[in-house]
Amino acid sequence: MDTLILVDSIQAVPDDWSPKLVMCGKVLLEENTARSFEEMRKCAEKEGIGLRVFSGYRPAGYQKELFMQSVYGYMSEGLSESDARALTARYLAKPGHSEHQTGLACDICRQDADDADESFSKTKESVWLHDNAYRFGFILRYPRMKEHITGIAYEPWHYRYVGEKHAGNIMKRGITLEEYLYYSPFENSIVKSLTID
Ligand code: DAL
Ligand code: ZN
Repeated sequence: MDTLILVDSIQAVPDDWSPKLVMCGKVLLEENTARSFEEMRKCAEKEGIGLRVFSGYRPAGYQKELFMQSVYGYMSEGLSESDARALTARYLAKPGHSEHQTGLACDICRQDADDADESFSKTKESVWLHDNAYRFGFILRYPRMKEHITGIAYEPWHYRYVGEKHAGNIMKRGITLEEYLYYSPFENSIVKSLTID
């Protein structure tokens, strides 16, 4: 399982990607992702932080449904189809290109909430995640001011499992997965040789 897999607007989920999925609360996640989230959730709970995953693994058909629902919603407000698609693609990966299809991504909200929006960033849960999620192998995948690199707007709720060592390298340096993979090739190859079998 390549936990450093890059899935974005250019790179699609590989056809042969078939993770072992397990339940995590009410959603499915890749098994290591689910185990690490559960460890993180318990640790956070001891510190008075309640977390839950409100969106995990999404089959390709479901991603397409979400994407088209959003496109039609914007079109019903009067936008052209191309504008509606462009606006939708700021927050929803186009079908075939969502990390949620890998099982390695989780959208996290407060335990007593059903979902999250940008205001989540101001909560103690979000601050805790930002400071601690890397210890459990998770990175904030779509940080502020990095839309020109990730192609996706700031999503304080979307965390991606990459494993502990990589997550520490990425979060402590405040970079994206794209920057880690493309602009740190030397360091990354050393890290890879130490951590990936
Ligand atoms: N919200 C993220 C970008 C997704 O749809 O995968
Ligand atoms: Zn997400």
